Amino acid sequence: MSSGMTRAPLPERLLAPAPGWSTTCDVVVVGSGIAGLTAALRLKDKVGRVLVVTKDVLNAGSTQWAQGGIAAALGPGDTPDQHERDTLVAGAGACDAEAVRVLVTDGPAAVRELIELGTNFDHDSAGDLSLTREGGHHRDRIAHAGGDATGAEIQRALIAAIQAAPEIEVIEHALAVDLLLDDGGAVAGLTLHVMGEGQIDGVGAVHCRAAVLASGGLGQVFSQTTNPAVATGDGTAIALRAGARVRDLEFVQFHPTVMYLGPDSRGQQPLISEAVRGEGAYLVDFEGNRFMQGVHELADLAPRDVVAKAITRRMHETGHPHMWLDATHLGEAFWERRFPTILVTCRSYGVDPVTELIPVAPACHYASGGVVTDLWGRTSVPGLYATGEAACSGVHGANRLASNSLLEGLVFSRRISDVLPGELPEQRTAAPDRRTAGLVSGDLRHAMEELMTDRVGVLRSAAGLAGAVARLGAMGERSTDLVDQAAWELTNLLTVSTAMARAAELREETRGSHWRDDFPERDDVRFAGHFDARMSDGRISLEFVPAPQTDPSMVPVT
Ligand code: SIN
Repeated sequence: MSSGMTRAPLPERLLAPAPGWSTTCDVVVVGSGIAGLTAALRLKDKVGRVLVVTKDVLNAGSTQWAQGGIAAALGPGDTPDQHERDTLVAGAGACDAEAVRVLVTDGPAAVRELIELGTNFDHDSAGDLSLTREGGHHRDRIAHAGGDATGAEIQRALIAAIQAAPEIEVIEHALAVDLLLDDGGAVAGLTLHVMGEGQIDGVGAVHCRAAVLASGGLGQVFSQTTNPAVATGDGTAIALRAGARVRDLEFVQFHPTVMYLGPDSRGQQPLISEAVRGEGAYLVDFEGNRFMQGVHELADLAPRDVVAKAITRRMHETGHPHMWLDATHLGEAFWERRFPTILVTCRSYGVDPVTELIPVAPACHYASGGVVTDLWGRTSVPGLYATGEAACSGVHGANRLASNSLLEGLVFSRRISDVLPGELPEQRTAAPDRRTAGLVSGDLRHAMEELMTDRVGVLRSAAGLAGAVARLGAMGERSTDLVDQAAWELTNLLTVSTAMARAAELREETRGSHWRDDFPERDDVRFAGHFDARMSDGRISLEFVPAPQTDPSMVPVT
């Protein structure tokens, strides 16, 4: 199965001024969340100069916002096998079984290493690591910190380690623009735009022997998301333009319980962690009915896609724009100790969760797909590695299991650092520029987000997706010569939106977080496999790649 091509040619390289400065390093790491900083820390003693570039300040990415925690088989009675089973079930037959095995096997040691690095996870009164449960997990296996501030604590510890390692150089406020490739299509460097002072200012070129993409997600494609403003899919778009394979983009996860702030609220919305349900909160409709009961054996703690769909269904049935989360019975002392960040956030929006129900609705949360990697983070472009949310290692399948994302970044960045030093080539020579085209005009951003939310959001249909693909194509034709960050970001957003909408259109089934109104069943006969997007000559094409028959998570159900 192979798709037609998209209509509007997209730039193979973003329009940008010629580099006004340059620098050289051995490895450039793009991104500064758990994946990027772990890679940099572990590479620092194994290769020469490591440079971390990050679009904003070091802690502006998604890691900082992670609430629930990090999953690993660390508790009594838990095993990697059980963690593996829960991950495969949540992934709805689209996981790479070998990658999942790696994740759950390496997971416990990787988390212990974070603790050795100085991350202060929460402990119970007996001094044992405090572990909780989230959707899809059959065991308490989520380690957390500061109650609901896990990501912020991990980020703090990693930044402290980076600051104690002067051999790692960091450039903040540096938007990665494009990879420089040699004649054979291998990585020779990276162009970036730095909003700085002095020599490192404006567009520059980093000449490097290898690049690690750890640039995070793409939630800003939609009008409501839990992702921070920096999550504009830059790494995914850069990889597509460099010729890399990008997989499973249709599997965008919508978090079921995002605080509903009204119909006009856009951008990053407050997350109400699944851990709140893990500690006993439950969903109710406007009549007070606990509608998750009877939907799934785990009720309010069913896998995320099941809960998001049940909420959306109830919203459609009742005509309400949200449902409610009842956590009033947890009590003030518990709220203050276990969920201090969420408590303050809710109160700042005028809702006291100690005494009131929290209005919630699903919103975009996580890209399960991304740049295809092997088990060692290698992409299809020589010299390019990918890790974290920007990557598709295969562990998430059609629906990521809660709190597996921090773990994925950690585990696969460690693996990259194990192989990359032995694979470093000599510095390659960058070939002349690839084709550039005008950027997409930044004033289309709201229209694009609305379109994606309406047509490519939680519930999808053939007509809606066809309309989305056509309108995205038309937006791509509205180009501007104005070169600025808004236009670079929108061009990246449009590139990944186009690939996402095309893949969603071709996948005529319902699987995991991909929910088709017109094809409500999972179809393992036609769709046991992946849609890989590639860009060539400025056009995105989609190819269906059947899953290996030996992959037990993909064996068709009859
Ligand atoms: C949450 O705390 O509910 C989010 C955790 C995750 O996305 O894995």
